[in-house]
Amino acid sequence: MVARLNRGPDPVRARRTVKTLKIDGLDVSGTDEQTILEVARENEISIPTLCTIEGLSNLGACRVCLVEVGDNGKLLPACVTLIEEGMSVNTKTPRIIEYRRKLVELLFSERNHICAVCVSNGHCELQQLAEDLGVDHTRYPYVYPRLGVDASHREMAVDHNRCILCQRCVRVCDEIEGAHTWDVMDRGAGTRVVTDMNQRWGESTTCTECGKCVQVCPTGALFDKGKAVAEMEKETQFLPYLRTMREEE
Ligand code: SF4
Ligand code: SF4
Ligand code: FES
Repeated sequence: MVARLNRGPDPVRARRTVKTLKIDGLDVSGTDEQTILEVARENEISIPTLCTIEGLSNLGACRVCLVEVGDNGKLLPACVTLIEEGMSVNTKTPRIIEYRRKLVELLFSERNHICAVCVSNGHCELQQLAEDLGVDHTRYPYVYPRLGVDASHREMAVDHNRCILCQRCVRVCDEIEGAHTWDVMDRGAGTRVVTDMNQRWGESTTCTECGKCVQVCPTGALFDKGKAVAEMEKETQFLPYLRTMREEE
């Protein structure tokens, strides 16, 4: 499991120091608690992301934000790498773009994504990223795992065939809702998100039915019941607001 870069209230704000660095040849600056991704975005340099979402801790799970750092082009995830003085970062070299394509192709090949019949078709972050990177097929054999759908909850459902293991659901449920209904079970190819101790969602004793997990899920893995193909649109704007309110309490 990759260590989380937690974003709690910072009691040492006064001790932050300014760092200068180059991103894609541009001179930029930030403070020492900022990540490459944050500084890049402040300077309108786009880096694709999947597991990162504003308002939750950064996890570094998906790796699509990989950038090259330093003269030897070390590959590091921009969302969990803090800036350093004199750092040189490249975000769009042919090598980086090829790695991002491969990562997205692997995500498609390891589960069962049938966009044409998906509730999130047309509103899916994975699908959009594939389109942005020009991924229209995968060079890897499909795994076709036998995965289930848990529709036991009266309002929401999870289709593991479309899960990319970004763990946004786990983090929002823990960090924002405080229920910690979602977690991760097993390792490697067998990894799954689970509710409670792998009980069915509808039998969970901790789920508050807030629906935040559905809204932050980047794909059609979590969805509201009753949605037909392409009808599931997610709203994530509540997250930065709730995070700010929590920190001010
Ligand atoms: S979750 Fe996204 S990529 Fe997967 S089937 Fe649905 S629309 Fe396609
Ligand atoms: S269910 Fe959705 S939010 Fe949760 S890990 Fe899977 S893709 Fe991410
Ligand atoms: S966005 Fe950085 S690892 Fe997922």
